[in-house]
Amino acid sequence: MTRHVRTAIFPVAGLGTRFLPATKATPKELLPVLDTPLIQYAVDEAREAGIERLVFVSHPSKSAIERHVMEDMRLTKELRARGKADVADALSEAALSPVEDDARFVMQTEPKGLGHAVLCAKDHVLDGPVAVILPDDLILGQVACLTEMVEAYADGSVGHLVATMEVPEDKVHRYGILSVTGKAGSIVMADGMVEKPKAKDAPSRQAVVGRYILDPSIFSALETQPPGAGGEIQLTDAIARGAADLGLGGFQFSGTRFDCGSKAGMFEATLELASRDPECLAVLKAHGLVRPGPAVAA
Ligand code: UTP
Repeated sequence: MTRHVRTAIFPVAGLGTRFLPATKATPKELLPVLDTPLIQYAVDEAREAGIERLVFVSHPSKSAIERHVMEDMRLTKELRARGKADVADALSEAALSPVEDDARFVMQTEPKGLGHAVLCAKDHVLDGPVAVILPDDLILGQVACLTEMVEAYADGSVGHLVATMEVPEDKVHRYGILSVTGKAGSIVMADGMVEKPKAKDAPSRQAVVGRYILDPSIFSALETQPPGAGGEIQLTDAIARGAADLGLGGFQFSGTRFDCGSKAGMFEATLELASRDPECLAVLKAHGLVRPGPAVAA
Protein backbone atom coordinates (compact mmCIF):
# COMPACT_ATOMS: atom_id res chain seq x y z
CA MET A 1 0.00 0.00 0.00
CA THR A 2 1.34 3.41 -0.98
CA ARG A 3 2.39 5.79 1.80
CA HIS A 4 2.34 8.72 -0.60
CA VAL A 5 -0.12 11.40 0.58
CA ARG A 6 -1.88 12.89 -2.48
CA THR A 7 -5.10 14.33 -1.02
CA ALA A 8 -5.80 16.93 1.66
CA ILE A 9 -9.26 17.38 3.14
CA PHE A 10 -10.22 20.78 4.58
CA PRO A 11 -13.30 20.51 6.83
CA VAL A 12 -14.75 24.03 6.75
CA ALA A 13 -18.47 23.45 7.29
CA GLY A 14 -18.62 24.15 11.05
CA LEU A 15 -20.71 26.84 12.69
CA GLY A 16 -17.84 28.70 14.36
CA THR A 17 -19.94 29.43 17.46
CA ARG A 18 -16.96 30.45 19.60
CA PHE A 19 -16.32 33.37 17.31
CA LEU A 20 -19.84 34.78 17.10
CA PRO A 21 -20.86 37.43 16.17
CA ALA A 22 -17.84 37.67 13.80
CA THR A 23 -18.83 34.36 12.18
CA LYS A 24 -22.52 35.19 11.68
CA ALA A 25 -22.00 36.17 8.03
CA THR A 26 -18.26 35.56 7.60
CA PRO A 27 -16.96 31.98 7.70
CA LYS A 28 -14.48 31.42 10.55
CA GLU A 29 -11.99 30.11 8.00
CA LEU A 30 -11.97 33.53 6.30
CA LEU A 31 -11.11 35.47 9.45
CA PRO A 32 -7.71 37.04 8.79
CA VAL A 33 -4.53 36.92 10.80
CA LEU A 34 -3.34 40.38 9.77
CA ASP A 35 -4.29 40.43 6.07
CA THR A 36 -4.40 36.72 5.26
CA PRO A 37 -7.45 34.51 5.92
CA LEU A 38 -6.92 31.28 7.86
CA ILE A 39 -7.90 29.13 4.87
CA GLN A 40 -5.07 30.65 2.83
CA TYR A 41 -2.43 29.51 5.35
CA ALA A 42 -3.96 26.01 5.17
CA VAL A 43 -3.96 25.91 1.36
CA ASP A 44 -0.35 27.18 1.26
CA GLU A 45 0.65 24.44 3.72
CA ALA A 46 -0.97 21.71 1.61
CA ARG A 47 0.66 22.91 -1.59
CA GLU A 48 4.05 23.13 0.12
CA ALA A 49 3.65 19.52 1.24
CA GLY A 50 3.12 18.43 -2.39
CA ILE A 51 -0.59 17.66 -2.10
CA GLU A 52 -2.21 17.03 -5.51
CA ARG A 53 -5.92 17.20 -4.72
CA LEU A 54 -7.57 19.62 -2.28
CA VAL A 55 -11.05 18.66 -1.08
CA PHE A 56 -12.99 21.36 0.79
CA VAL A 57 -15.93 20.12 2.85
CA SER A 58 -18.03 23.24 3.11
CA HIS A 59 -21.60 24.43 3.68
CA PRO A 60 -23.85 26.25 1.16
CA SER A 61 -23.88 29.33 3.44
CA LYS A 62 -20.06 29.47 3.28
CA SER A 63 -19.59 29.92 -0.48
CA ALA A 64 -17.22 32.84 0.22
CA ILE A 65 -14.56 30.21 1.03
CA GLU A 66 -14.67 28.93 -2.55
CA ARG A 67 -14.59 32.50 -3.87
CA HIS A 68 -11.49 33.17 -1.78
CA VAL A 69 -9.46 30.07 -2.63
CA MET A 70 -10.20 29.99 -6.36
CA GLU A 71 -8.69 32.40 -8.84
CA ASP A 72 -10.80 35.49 -9.57
CA MET A 73 -9.99 36.44 -13.17
CA ARG A 74 -12.30 39.45 -13.14
CA LEU A 75 -10.56 40.94 -10.10
CA THR A 76 -7.02 40.31 -11.33
CA LYS A 77 -7.91 41.78 -14.75
CA GLU A 78 -9.34 44.86 -13.07
CA LEU A 79 -6.25 45.23 -10.86
CA ARG A 80 -3.96 45.01 -13.88
CA ALA A 81 -6.04 47.62 -15.71
CA ARG A 82 -5.50 49.92 -12.71
CA GLY A 83 -1.73 49.45 -12.77
CA LYS A 84 -1.67 47.07 -9.79
CA ALA A 85 -0.02 44.16 -11.57
CA ASP A 86 2.03 43.25 -8.48
CA VAL A 87 -1.13 42.80 -6.37
CA ALA A 88 -2.76 40.82 -9.19
CA ASP A 89 0.29 38.55 -9.47
CA ALA A 90 0.33 37.89 -5.72
CA LEU A 91 -3.39 37.04 -5.74
CA SER A 92 -3.02 34.73 -8.74
CA GLU A 93 -0.12 32.91 -7.17
CA ALA A 94 -1.97 32.33 -3.90
CA ALA A 95 -5.20 31.23 -5.59
CA LEU A 96 -6.09 27.82 -6.99
CA SER A 97 -6.55 27.71 -10.74
CA PRO A 98 -9.57 25.82 -12.08
CA VAL A 99 -7.35 24.57 -14.91
CA GLU A 100 -3.98 23.84 -13.26
CA ASP A 101 -5.06 22.83 -9.75
CA ASP A 102 -7.24 19.97 -8.61
CA ALA A 103 -9.70 21.44 -6.10
CA ARG A 104 -13.10 20.03 -5.19
CA PHE A 105 -15.92 21.42 -3.07
CA VAL A 106 -18.26 19.04 -1.29
CA MET A 107 -21.18 20.15 0.87
CA GLN A 108 -21.87 19.00 4.43
CA THR A 109 -25.38 20.36 4.77
CA GLU A 110 -25.68 19.63 8.50
CA PRO A 111 -22.81 20.16 10.96
CA LYS A 112 -22.79 16.57 12.27
CA GLY A 113 -19.20 16.74 13.48
CA LEU A 114 -15.64 16.63 12.20
CA GLY A 115 -15.76 12.87 11.55
CA HIS A 116 -18.88 13.28 9.43
CA ALA A 117 -17.26 16.16 7.53
CA VAL A 118 -14.25 13.96 6.67
CA LEU A 119 -16.61 11.17 5.58
CA CYS A 120 -18.30 13.60 3.15
CA ALA A 121 -14.98 13.73 1.23
CA LYS A 122 -14.86 9.94 0.73
CA ASP A 123 -15.83 9.83 -2.95
CA HIS A 124 -13.45 12.63 -3.87
CA VAL A 125 -10.08 11.46 -2.58
CA LEU A 126 -7.20 9.97 -4.58
CA ASP A 127 -5.65 6.58 -3.72
CA GLY A 128 -3.65 6.18 -0.53
CA PRO A 129 -3.57 7.93 2.84
CA VAL A 130 -5.30 11.30 3.21
CA ALA A 131 -4.25 14.45 5.05
CA VAL A 132 -6.78 16.46 7.05
CA ILE A 133 -6.03 20.10 7.82
CA LEU A 134 -8.12 22.15 10.26
CA PRO A 135 -7.58 25.74 9.13
CA ASP A 136 -8.33 27.23 12.55
CA ASP A 137 -5.19 25.56 13.92
CA LEU A 138 -2.46 27.81 12.55
CA ILE A 139 1.00 26.26 12.87
CA LEU A 140 3.98 28.52 12.17
CA GLY A 141 7.51 27.18 11.90
CA GLN A 142 10.64 26.87 9.78
CA VAL A 143 9.13 23.87 7.99
CA ALA A 144 5.37 23.56 7.47
CA CYS A 145 3.80 21.01 9.80
CA LEU A 146 2.21 18.95 7.01
CA THR A 147 5.52 18.77 5.13
CA GLU A 148 7.19 17.32 8.24
CA MET A 149 4.34 14.89 8.74
CA VAL A 150 4.29 13.67 5.14
CA GLU A 151 8.00 12.89 5.44
CA ALA A 152 7.61 11.13 8.78
CA TYR A 153 4.64 9.14 7.47
CA ALA A 154 6.56 7.93 4.40
CA ASP A 155 9.40 6.63 6.59
CA GLY A 156 7.27 5.27 9.42
CA SER A 157 5.00 2.33 9.94
CA VAL A 158 1.92 3.77 11.66
CA GLY A 159 -1.39 3.80 9.77
CA HIS A 160 -2.70 6.99 11.40
CA LEU A 161 -0.39 9.89 12.23
CA VAL A 162 -1.79 12.85 14.18
CA ALA A 163 -0.05 16.09 15.11
CA THR A 164 0.52 16.34 18.86
CA MET A 165 1.90 18.77 21.37
CA GLU A 166 2.34 18.63 25.11
CA VAL A 167 -0.21 20.72 27.00
CA PRO A 168 -0.39 21.63 30.71
CA GLU A 169 -2.55 19.42 32.92
CA ASP A 170 -5.23 22.10 33.33
CA LYS A 171 -5.75 22.19 29.52
CA VAL A 172 -6.09 18.46 28.73
CA HIS A 173 -9.90 18.67 28.96
CA ARG A 174 -9.93 20.77 25.76
CA TYR A 175 -8.22 18.21 23.51
CA GLY A 176 -8.12 14.63 22.27
CA ILE A 177 -5.35 13.08 24.39
CA LEU A 178 -3.15 10.18 23.29
CA SER A 179 -2.67 7.08 25.35
CA VAL A 180 1.11 6.91 24.92
CA THR A 181 3.03 3.63 24.86
CA GLY A 182 6.50 4.72 23.68
CA LYS A 183 8.54 7.08 21.57
CA ALA A 184 10.52 6.78 18.33
CA GLY A 185 12.24 10.03 17.26
CA SER A 186 9.61 12.71 16.71
CA ILE A 187 6.77 10.20 16.96
CA VAL A 188 5.06 9.15 20.18
CA MET A 189 3.43 5.76 19.80
CA ALA A 190 -0.09 5.35 21.18
CA ASP A 191 -2.64 2.61 21.58
CA GLY A 192 -5.65 4.91 21.68
CA MET A 193 -6.90 8.37 22.45
CA VAL A 194 -9.55 9.94 24.62
CA GLU A 195 -11.62 12.96 23.60
CA LYS A 196 -11.54 15.82 26.13
CA PRO A 197 -10.77 13.83 29.34
CA LYS A 198 -10.81 15.28 32.83
CA ALA A 199 -7.26 15.99 34.08
CA LYS A 200 -7.43 13.04 36.50
CA ASP A 201 -8.47 10.61 33.73
CA ALA A 202 -6.07 11.85 31.02
CA PRO A 203 -3.73 9.06 29.86
CA SER A 204 -0.97 11.61 29.02
CA ARG A 205 -0.50 15.29 28.22
CA GLN A 206 0.00 14.70 24.47
CA ALA A 207 -2.81 16.67 22.84
CA VAL A 208 -3.95 16.14 19.26
CA VAL A 209 -4.14 19.29 17.11
CA GLY A 210 -5.50 19.92 13.62
CA ARG A 211 -3.22 18.01 11.25
CA TYR A 212 -3.76 14.33 10.47
CA ILE A 213 -2.52 11.75 7.97
CA LEU A 214 -4.99 8.91 7.94
CA ASP A 215 -5.05 5.43 6.53
CA PRO A 216 -7.84 5.21 3.88
CA SER A 217 -9.69 2.68 6.07
CA ILE A 218 -10.74 5.75 8.10
CA PHE A 219 -13.71 6.11 5.73
CA SER A 220 -15.15 2.67 6.49
CA ALA A 221 -14.52 3.31 10.19
CA LEU A 222 -16.44 6.59 9.97
CA GLU A 223 -19.33 4.93 8.14
CA THR A 224 -20.01 2.74 11.16
CA GLN A 225 -19.01 5.31 13.80
CA PRO A 226 -21.89 6.08 16.19
CA PRO A 227 -22.26 9.69 17.40
CA GLY A 228 -20.00 10.47 20.36
CA ALA A 229 -19.43 13.59 22.47
CA GLY A 230 -21.98 16.33 21.73
CA GLY A 231 -24.00 13.91 19.55
CA GLU A 232 -21.44 14.47 16.75
CA ILE A 233 -19.53 11.88 14.73
CA GLN A 234 -16.07 12.35 16.18
CA LEU A 235 -12.97 11.86 14.05
CA THR A 236 -10.94 10.98 17.15
CA ASP A 237 -13.27 8.05 17.98
CA ALA A 238 -12.81 6.55 14.51
CA ILE A 239 -9.03 7.05 14.64
CA ALA A 240 -8.83 5.46 18.09
CA ARG A 241 -10.76 2.40 16.86
CA GLY A 242 -8.11 1.73 14.23
CA ALA A 243 -5.17 2.25 16.59
CA ALA A 244 -4.57 -1.42 17.45
CA ASP A 245 -4.71 -2.76 13.88
CA LEU A 246 -3.08 0.10 12.00
CA GLY A 247 -0.75 1.68 14.56
CA LEU A 248 -1.26 5.21 15.84
CA GLY A 249 1.48 7.80 16.15
CA GLY A 250 1.55 11.35 17.48
CA PHE A 251 3.89 13.58 15.50
CA GLN A 252 5.67 16.21 17.59
CA PHE A 253 5.93 19.03 15.07
CA SER A 254 8.64 21.66 15.30
CA GLY A 255 6.48 24.78 14.82
CA THR A 256 4.23 26.74 17.18
CA ARG A 257 0.49 26.19 17.07
CA PHE A 258 -2.11 28.91 17.57
CA ASP A 259 -5.75 28.02 18.27
CA CYS A 260 -7.34 30.52 15.92
CA GLY A 261 -10.77 29.08 16.63
CA SER A 262 -10.61 31.04 19.90
CA LYS A 263 -10.28 34.76 20.49
CA ALA A 264 -7.16 34.44 22.63
CA GLY A 265 -5.40 32.17 20.13
CA MET A 266 -6.29 34.43 17.22
CA PHE A 267 -5.00 37.44 19.14
CA GLU A 268 -1.73 35.66 19.94
CA ALA A 269 -1.24 34.63 16.28
CA THR A 270 -1.94 38.21 15.23
CA LEU A 271 0.67 39.52 17.68
CA GLU A 272 3.19 36.99 16.41
CA LEU A 273 2.73 37.89 12.74
CA ALA A 274 2.45 41.62 13.52
CA SER A 275 5.85 41.46 15.20
CA ARG A 276 7.31 40.36 11.82
CA ASP A 277 5.77 43.26 9.90
CA PRO A 278 7.77 46.51 10.21
CA GLU A 279 4.71 48.78 10.17
CA CYS A 280 2.83 46.72 12.76
CA LEU A 281 5.95 46.21 14.86
CA ALA A 282 6.21 49.98 15.29
CA VAL A 283 2.62 50.00 16.60
CA LEU A 284 3.36 47.13 19.00
CA LYS A 285 6.43 48.95 20.29
CA ALA A 286 4.47 52.17 20.76
CA HIS A 287 1.99 50.22 22.94
CA GLY A 288 4.69 48.30 24.83
CA LEU A 289 3.38 45.08 23.27
CA VAL A 290 6.53 43.55 21.86
CA ARG A 291 6.68 39.91 22.91
CA PRO A 292 9.66 38.81 24.97
CA GLY A 293 11.93 36.11 23.55
CA PRO A 294 12.70 35.20 19.94
CA ALA A 295 9.92 35.41 17.39
CA VAL A 296 8.69 32.14 15.88
CA ALA A 297 10.38 31.71 12.52
CA ALA A 298 8.11 32.01 9.46
P1 UTP B 1 -14.41 23.22 15.37
O1 UTP B 1 -15.22 22.44 16.33
O2 UTP B 1 -13.23 23.94 15.85
O3 UTP B 1 -15.27 24.26 14.56
O4 UTP B 1 -14.04 22.28 14.15
P2 UTP B 1 -16.71 24.83 14.71
O5 UTP B 1 -17.69 23.79 15.13
O6 UTP B 1 -16.95 25.52 13.42
O7 UTP B 1 -16.47 25.95 15.80
P3 UTP B 1 -17.07 26.21 17.26
O8 UTP B 1 -16.44 25.15 18.15
O9 UTP B 1 -18.56 26.14 17.14
O10 UTP B 1 -16.59 27.59 17.56
C1 UTP B 1 -12.77 22.29 13.49
C2 UTP B 1 -12.96 22.36 11.98
O11 UTP B 1 -13.87 21.39 11.54
C3 UTP B 1 -14.90 21.97 10.77
C4 UTP B 1 -14.93 23.44 11.17
O12 UTP B 1 -15.41 24.25 10.08
C5 UTP B 1 -13.48 23.73 11.51
O13 UTP B 1 -12.73 24.12 10.37
N1 UTP B 1 -16.18 21.26 11.02
C6 UTP B 1 -16.62 21.05 12.29
C7 UTP B 1 -16.92 20.81 9.93
O14 UTP B 1 -16.53 20.98 8.75
N2 UTP B 1 -18.11 20.17 10.17
C8 UTP B 1 -18.58 19.95 11.42
O15 UTP B 1 -19.67 19.36 11.56
C9 UTP B 1 -17.81 20.40 12.51
